[in-house]
Amino acid sequence: MIKAAITAVAGFLPDNIVTNADLEKIIDTTDEWITTRTGIQQRHIEKDPKKATSDMAVEAVNLLCKKSGMKPTEIDLLILATVTPDMVFPATANILCAKIGATNAWGFDLSAACSGFIYGLATGAQFIETGRYKKVVIVGADMMSRIIDYEDRTTCVIFGDGCGAILLEPNNEGMGIQDFILHADGNGVNYLHMKAGGSLNPSSMDTVTNKMHYVHQEGQTVFKHAVYNMAEVSAKIMEKNNLTADDVNYLVAHQANKRIIEATASRMGVGSEKVLMNIQRYGNTTAGTIPLLLWDYEHQLKKGDNIIISAFGGGFTWGAIYLKWAYDTKAKA
Ligand code: UT7
Repeated sequence: MIKAAITAVAGFLPDNIVTNADLEKIIDTTDEWITTRTGIQQRHIEKDPKKATSDMAVEAVNLLCKKSGMKPTEIDLLILATVTPDMVFPATANILCAKIGATNAWGFDLSAACSGFIYGLATGAQFIETGRYKKVVIVGADMMSRIIDYEDRTTCVIFGDGCGAILLEPNNEGMGIQDFILHADGNGVNYLHMKAGGSLNPSSMDTVTNKMHYVHQEGQTVFKHAVYNMAEVSAKIMEKNNLTADDVNYLVAHQANKRIIEATASRMGVGSEKVLMNIQRYGNTTAGTIPLLLWDYEHQLKKGDNIIISAFGGGFTWGAIYLKWAYDTKAKA
């Protein structure tokens, strides 16, 4: 049976870095609070107002093409997970394909907040497994700084900008995506959302004055749901596939809060040496966190490694993917 394997990863982060010390100067916070409550020490923020999510994605997908030797015209399908599209429509996936010259691809944006990348990975895999397509690109990209209120200390310390991309190709050796469990519960809407800009609250002077174009998060409630659901779904996918903690080589978890990631690892019985982490450098890049983690740690991953990917985010949305890594790499590129 054909499996869908990740055969290349790439990423992009804007150059500009905002440290906790920088935030101390603009809001009532401390490096100590941010570090102990979240694990975040800095985040990348795009300063150029002319740049948008598609521009980060162009950099990541161009690097993906370079690393894999793939021409943009070879891409069959491109799925872009984001909550910060360039515009409400058309899809940023379409804008991206035009910018990189992926003239034979079709694609769409996928809105599942922090679970966007795993939703996209599971969706894209279907097109490979059925034999329909040979090259599917999944992008997780968010320019969170464009929807964050930098006067709101409860959200502005957490989020950052960034983008990651992976290439999915057919594999006949049993490597690649083995299983996934995905969930959604729209009752979570009240706790994590952006109120305006859609059909419910179209943009107006009022929506701007009332700061309705920013992320609203009830942190503690989201935290509790995230800890419980990410931990449970990660343990469940192990159980379903008869994996013990010893069988798992790495946990690749959405980077929202170091404490949520540690709780997930603990529920799985997986030691901290198997937990991949880069939240300290990038913060929460929403759909970007998981492909950025794979990019950062690609050089460490070995063919056949059992990897559990898990995420939780706005919606609520959550899930886990079990995959066998398909290749060895020498160094980060
Ligand atoms: O990625 C998608 C899903 N999102 C998540 O998974 C995020 C889940 N939530 C969280 O990670 C955490 O809830 C936060 C990091 C957002 C907040 O951490 P917390 O430990 O839950 O803090 P809290 O909201 O319970 O606030 C504790 C205190 C409050 O002060 P009082 O009322 O106890 O005096 C807050 O006002 O910390 C205060 N506080 C801050 N203090 C300094 C909140 N933000 C800050 C800040 N600096 N930046």
